[in-house]
Amino acid sequence: MRIIVCKNYEELSEKAANIVASQLTLKPDSVIGRATGSTPLGMYSKLAEMNKSGEIDFSDVISFNLDEYYPIQKENSQSYDKFMKDNLFSKINIKPENTHIPNGEATDPIKECDEYERLIKENGGIDLQILGIGQNGHIGFNEPDASLSSRTHLTNLTENTIKANSRFFASSDEVPRQALTMGIATILKARKIILLANGANKSRVVSELLNDGINTSVPATLLKTHPDVILICDEDAYYGTRLGVDIGGTDIKFAVVDKKEVKFTDKIKTPENADGIVNAICDKINEIKDEYKIKNVGIGTPGEIKNGLIYASNLPFKGYPLEKAVSDKIDLFVTVDNDANCAALGEIIFGSTNDCDNLVLVTLGTGIGGGIIMNRQICHTKNNMGEIGHFIIKPENGRKCPCGQEGCWEQYCSSNALVKDVGEAAKQNKDSIIYKLMTEKGTLNGEIIFEALDMGCEVTKAVYKKYIFYLARGIESLANIFGPDCIVLAGGVTLQGDKLLAPLKAELKKDIRVEISTLQRNAGALGAAML
Ligand code: GLP
Repeated sequence: MRIIVCKNYEELSEKAANIVASQLTLKPDSVIGRATGSTPLGMYSKLAEMNKSGEIDFSDVISFNLDEYYPIQKENSQSYDKFMKDNLFSKINIKPENTHIPNGEATDPIKECDEYERLIKENGGIDLQILGIGQNGHIGFNEPDASLSSRTHLTNLTENTIKANSRFFASSDEVPRQALTMGIATILKARKIILLANGANKSRVVSELLNDGINTSVPATLLKTHPDVILICDEDAYYGTRLGVDIGGTDIKFAVVDKKEVKFTDKIKTPENADGIVNAICDKINEIKDEYKIKNVGIGTPGEIKNGLIYASNLPFKGYPLEKAVSDKIDLFVTVDNDANCAALGEIIFGSTNDCDNLVLVTLGTGIGGGIIMNRQICHTKNNMGEIGHFIIKPENGRKCPCGQEGCWEQYCSSNALVKDVGEAAKQNKDSIIYKLMTEKGTLNGEIIFEALDMGCEVTKAVYKKYIFYLARGIESLANIFGPDCIVLAGGVTLQGDKLLAPLKAELKKDIRVEISTLQRNAGALGAAML
């Protein structure tokens, strides 16, 4: 399934209309399957405009509607027959004899369904099927059920659908209790399908569609078996309200994101054991989920994720099924990913680099972490992708790394490596400014290093020059491998801003866009929300 996320309903309608238009350009006598409901209205009015301006021609088009209430008189203001005439057929040059809608007035509905199915076949089958989606996951009127009828059939509407559709009728009592609808197999036989969804009230079902396996209780998931389906949705339907959780060694951070707007943030101390972490996360979710109408929870955690189990050295997760443990306790969709991946996603959605499609995030902290985003998606493999701190920057006489290799990049360019190198240089140069500062303050950290640089300390300058040299070589290599639109740097040393960026840019031998994260430690929770 291909997914197109549009900024708003206007864009969604335009994209969908353009797909129909290109179908008609390629095959002017196409058989188009049509949906009713409020979702395709914008697309229908664009198609009418395009027809009026001569851009597209419907004179050879054959149209089959998905469904119709049963029983219903054609002239009833809520019949799909009337809907189609009012909203499309009266506005385009389609021949009335080429428009087909199941007959809600039929005395023998079973015969009507068989005849409808036969007619579709006789016309060569559907080339392009347009679909909306019900809040309960129905397509056409294929309601959630233990087993689904495959061909055009008479069906009972669920309470949920009657309630959702009552907005078009004077009261819910007036909504017909049955409908005639193309079956799932009728729909899946279409050569191409576009599925439209807009508005926050569709965000839950869109998540079910994308996250659930194929199952008959969300009939739209069966579309995943079709080779050519495009889901076109707006940001409201795609994102909904989400909670992001970023588990760190010290704190767990929370961020509620509605579309792309941050509505709430919070932080708690990280409990000591795995169950304590899960309970603390679930308590917070229960506290806020109703207020913010949260549908999805994304969790970022340090460590490797293998077959749903987390292995983290700094947390009590030694093969721990975090996603399952949280999902078992709350009735929401939960997704877990590596924290650096989440931070990279946060950067590309919320950061100053939100104009990029491809990005590499490099976190210069205790070690070097990273997240790789290509085409606005996190890059994953089963083999722990993104361990950029462990590519070899110095193959000969390289420093030993706890990972077992020698010469890893993080041994030269993490914030810790810088502090360690400056500390060693200071001890060998007891008359240096840095040595004086270090002994005065009884410690050494990034701030003191930059204070020494500001004071013109030659010893610190020499170490920093080397640090920048290795940093630049690493960044050039990442740029060569991934060809990102931007490399974003985050973590300890990057809080120095231009004092890092300016010498780094001067050292780079490639024209690479490098930026310092504007989100820093908040990127993880924000990105987790968008998993
Ligand atoms: C109706 C129709 C469906 C339609 C769905 C969503 O009941 N039978 O074909 O896709 O509900 O309607 P809307 O677009 O108004 O949300």
